[in-house]
Amino acid sequence: MLRGALIQTMRIAVCPGSFDPITYGHLDIIDRASKLFDKVIVLVSYNPGKSSASFSLTERMEMIYAVIGHLNNVVVDCNDGLLADYLKRTGACAIVKGLRAVSDFEYEFQMALANKKLYADAETVFLTTSTENMYLSSSVVKEIASLGGDISDFVPEQIREQIGRRLFSAKTERM
Ligand code: PNS
Repeated sequence: MLRGALIQTMRIAVCPGSFDPITYGHLDIIDRASKLFDKVIVLVSYNPGKSSASFSLTERMEMIYAVIGHLNNVVVDCNDGLLADYLKRTGACAIVKGLRAVSDFEYEFQMALANKKLYADAETVFLTTSTENMYLSSSVVKEIASLGGDISDFVPEQIREQIGRRLFSAKTERM
């Protein structure tokens, strides 16, 4: 009886975001999600609210691949449509997002409600960001890197040089 009850379908979660670029804050949420679900898809998604990305889609996906090697139930994918449609297609049961501060809440709450309306079979799960990542965002990393600052506390070693090189040279060209 018990054996039958334990046979379940694989529980897939999606961690969506722009990941422009991925930071230790994202990685912490992905790492924790990988312990809660059988499979986690890190989904590089289109955010209509952001005009242009600093890194191409391929670069963003490659940077994620470079830093998730230790997580064997995590994969990377991309989607330029509705997140809800992607969840339906893949059979994912959850969207996992990190919540940093009260300022994140209103936007994330609205997104969670809209996604629930579009696809009722999936839940949005919020994980509170670790205190050391409270202030961390891709924008902060990009600003520091573009001004030649040290980003070693913010992004993994494997992708640090690529980010620094790209953003610092972009700033030099602007001036
Ligand atoms: O890292 P970001 O830019 O804050 O992530 C936002 C993202 C990409 C997760 C969000 O814009 C999104 O879900 N885009 C997919 C398009 C979509 O489904 N929009 C409607 C959500 S209510």
